[in-house]
Amino acid sequence: MSLIEQVSNGNGSPLAQSVERSAKPARLKAIAVVGLGYWGPNWVRVISQLQQADQIVCCDLSAARREQIAKLYPEVKAVESVDDVLNDPDVEAVVVATPVNSHYEIARRFLEEGKAVLVEKPLAISLKQAAELVRLSRRRQRTLMVGHTFEYSAPVLKARELIESGELGEILYISSVRANLGLFQRDINVAWDLATHDISIILMLLGQMPESVACQGQSHYRSKVEDVALLTLHFPNGVIAFIHVSWLDPNKIRRATIVGSHKMVVYDDTALQEKIRIYDKGVTFQPHYDTYGEFQLSYRYGDIQIPRIEEAEPLKVECEHFIDCIHTGKVPKSDGVSGLRVVSVLEAADISLSNGGQRVPVSQEAFGWE
Ligand SMILES: NC(=O)c1ccc[n+]([C@@H]2O[C@H](COP(=O)([O-])OP(=O)(O)OC[C@H]3O[C@@H](n4cnc5c(N)ncnc54)[C@H](O)[C@@H]3O)[C@@H](O)[C@H]2O)c1
Repeated sequence: MSLIEQVSNGNGSPLAQSVERSAKPARLKAIAVVGLGYWGPNWVRVISQLQQADQIVCCDLSAARREQIAKLYPEVKAVESVDDVLNDPDVEAVVVATPVNSHYEIARRFLEEGKAVLVEKPLAISLKQAAELVRLSRRRQRTLMVGHTFEYSAPVLKARELIESGELGEILYISSVRANLGLFQRDINVAWDLATHDISIILMLLGQMPESVACQGQSHYRSKVEDVALLTLHFPNGVIAFIHVSWLDPNKIRRATIVGSHKMVVYDDTALQEKIRIYDKGVTFQPHYDTYGEFQLSYRYGDIQIPRIEEAEPLKVECEHFIDCIHTGKVPKSDGVSGLRVVSVLEAADISLSNGGQRVPVSQEAFGWE
């Protein structure tokens, strides 16, 4: 097995790790960002700060958006059409930050042209499209990554470490809330917009796919575009996860509670510091011998621990990882298959939503892709 293969397999051997550490920062001739609306400029900023590309090409159909970016970053090359990026032989990698319904077509064209692609979340608007992108990236042997930003966030990684170490005990359930006022989307509902993050986080934390999902929601301002939704994910090991998402909430909430049989964790992404709190709280069954056959519950109220977490900007970590994967051939942590898994859950959630919230099986097709 080559060194690159060892690294790409996520093999944690010391040799593989030392190869990663000693590797020179990768450099690209040019990287492009397509879509300079609300989110795309964040990509331009981190790419510019990382300085791992000789040239940044910025693409948007809107002249106003191109002018705005050119004012902020005079060194970038601003172009109008995807064709300008496709035909630029120096562009080795592209970040697609356009509206979700355009992801598939734009990403497909870049992959066909042999460029590495990072598609913002969610990967595509259907399982069929997502699978096609994964297939294409494999055929062309080009990196395909999806913008599951929170998978690169230090508090989320800390939560995973706590689960994997067994410190929380058996995971009983996860409850996640992501709410604020706006930004209403036109092409996708609030589940596809916001719950994408929670689903990617939960799948990463639990390391498994849900068997089924139930979803209820309601649209108040745009016909058939739900602005509030509640998803329930049922996992094969009995774990249940609730995700409440809303564009109609007076407060910005980004909070997940992970309840284990020994300890519980609250992750609050809006906290400036102390994003993770570990509660040494729990419930134990005590057999009650006075009355035969009855049981009592006893509650444990222990300490609250706040681990120190060194936090780098998740988008910057994600960007570095993308460029590194292009150079080393490593499989990205949030690769196309990871995008496919999240889209499978969202697609099942859509079916449930239109069936009054009934449980719908989640396609396990993503398993065939390992
Ligand atoms: N990872 C995250 O945390 C995060 C956060 C916000 C948004 N996003 C994702 O980023 C993407 C963009 O969201 P947004 O809120 O910035 O959307 P937006 O509507 O604000 O911006 C999209 C931009 O794309 C441009 N565009 C559309 N079609 C184009 C084409 N064919 N060629 C060139 N430009 C084109 C539009 O002119 C617009 O400026 C979405 O996939 C969204 O889900 C991710």
